[in-house]
Amino acid sequence: MKFTVAIDGPAAAGKGTISKAIAAHFNLAHLDTGLLYRAVGRKAMDSDLPPDAIAHALTPADLLRDDLRTAEVAQAASRLASIPEVRAALVDFQRSFARRNGGAILDGRDIGTVICPNADVKLYVTADARTRAARRFAELSAKGHETSFDTVLADVKARDARDAGRTEAPMVAADDAVLIDTTGMSIDQAVEKAIRLVEARYPAN
Ligand code: CDP
Repeated sequence: MKFTVAIDGPAAAGKGTISKAIAAHFNLAHLDTGLLYRAVGRKAMDSDLPPDAIAHALTPADLLRDDLRTAEVAQAASRLASIPEVRAALVDFQRSFARRNGGAILDGRDIGTVICPNADVKLYVTADARTRAARRFAELSAKGHETSFDTVLADVKARDARDAGRTEAPMVAADDAVLIDTTGMSIDQAVEKAIRLVEARYPAN
């Protein structure tokens, strides 16, 4: 069975949590595509190689590093993500992941628009910037990262502006995406809504 779910949206909107829950519920493989850009960004911090060469040489082990979730790496990722050659280097891997047998869910910024324009389900998950920053601040604090709400809010806003404003694969909802605004929702409510939307398109139905 081939079944692809595309989830896009701005920084810290809850795409990761929702994607993992959908993957578990429908037994789909999950790819957090932000991790690819974060891994390129992290490696570029210590390397003189051009970012597209780093992207071409990315290995599964690079995605397992435990230092990819910081705001500094997110900013590096967002800067490199505007380079067309970097994005091009990552396309084939994402598309073949999307076509795997048993179905797949990918979350990112351009999944429903560029990577999988024919996805079976497209969701665009968002929330206002302060809500997203508060969630990300809680998440980072729980992991022991020393940061402040204002720093996280500034990171979220800077990345949103850069990701939405770039020429190549800008962050935008696909015309046929269903919008989920999670501002007033608990994560459980957002997950439940997303699962209902996927259920309606699931092949068994
Ligand atoms: O987890 P969070 O929403 O904060 O960010 P992420 O999904 O890990 O993505 C980090 C950065 O990678 C984003 O700010 C984008 O610049 C870039 N990205 C992208 O350009 N395209 C994607 N499909 C996924 C991420």
